Amino acid sequence: MRRIPASGEMLPAIGLGTSGPFEVGADEAARAPLREVLQAFFAAGATLIDTSPMYSNAEAVLGALLSPDQQAKVFVATKVWTPGSGGAAEQKGVEQMQRSMALLKHQRVELMQVHNLVDVEAHLRTLRRWKTEGRIKYLGVTHYTTSSYPDLISLIEREKPDFVQFNYSVATREAEKRLLPLCADRGVAVLINRAFEDGNLFARVQDKPVPPWAAEFGANSWAQIFLKFVLAHPAVTCVIPATGKIRNMLDNLGAGYGPLPDAKQRARIAAALG
Ligand SMILES: NC(=O)c1ccc[n+]([C@@H]2O[C@H](COP(=O)([O-])OP(=O)(O)OC[C@H]3O[C@@H](n4cnc5c(N)ncnc54)[C@H](OP(=O)(O)O)[C@@H]3O)[C@@H](O)[C@H]2O)c1
Repeated sequence: MRRIPASGEMLPAIGLGTSGPFEVGADEAARAPLREVLQAFFAAGATLIDTSPMYSNAEAVLGALLSPDQQAKVFVATKVWTPGSGGAAEQKGVEQMQRSMALLKHQRVELMQVHNLVDVEAHLRTLRRWKTEGRIKYLGVTHYTTSSYPDLISLIEREKPDFVQFNYSVATREAEKRLLPLCADRGVAVLINRAFEDGNLFARVQDKPVPPWAAEFGANSWAQIFLKFVLAHPAVTCVIPATGKIRNMLDNLGAGYGPLPDAKQRARIAAALG
């Protein structure tokens, strides 16, 4: 569990991403494994699921699959994303967020994020108002590239959002320089995307057995090594690996337990990646 600085609320440190695996439409055969994934996720006490109107039908699939009991537990992190909106960003954003809530069957979203900083000033005006009105609990911004860090940094300094979401992994450590320390300093909660580099990290270790020293910090798989590497940074609140497979979900949840690698062990992980 990690603390959300803005409120003190505790959040399970392993969440779930929906880009890719949850974009399955109405196909029942493709939805069935996702039900199992959600069941394992909530049974373990996890709650945060990240989605977006950018991910085709992922919001609709999630809204259809969440049981009433899961709806009561879930911490929904969705987004507003209005590329090419011209001067109509504010109105288009409102309409899109209302649609997301209807698709998700979730009338009060826990976290609404401005996706990739698109039309950020316009949407932040709405989000501040919606937060005051109790329509959302927290507001945030996201990106997924290191080239966005200067913009994220100036936005954190200017606006102090509740949450910031960005990319960080054992292979991409740029965030350690300024972004992660700034979030810790300003009391901004951090969601981490692409902790597996969209799955590419597994290709880099496919011929390498899990090193025996990973057991020292309770990791039994490469996925747990990669997730524990990210969680070992004290500024990180929650990491949101995407999966549509029950086996991988259980594997990822395992990274939420036990010790975390220290500085020496983290250096060893980075070296093992080659
Ligand atoms: N701008 C933004 O706001 C932004 C940008 C990027 C991502 N995100 C969010 O962050 C989430 C995660 O990022 P991501 O989807 O780019 O990629 P990721 O989490 O780095 O990697 C996902 C890939 O890893 C595989 N995987 C997951 N667990 C595994 C395990 N235990 N063992 C082996 N393979 C495993 C998945 O395949 P299987 O399905 O086969 O398990 C999937 O192909 C997204 O889904 C989205 O919610 C947001």
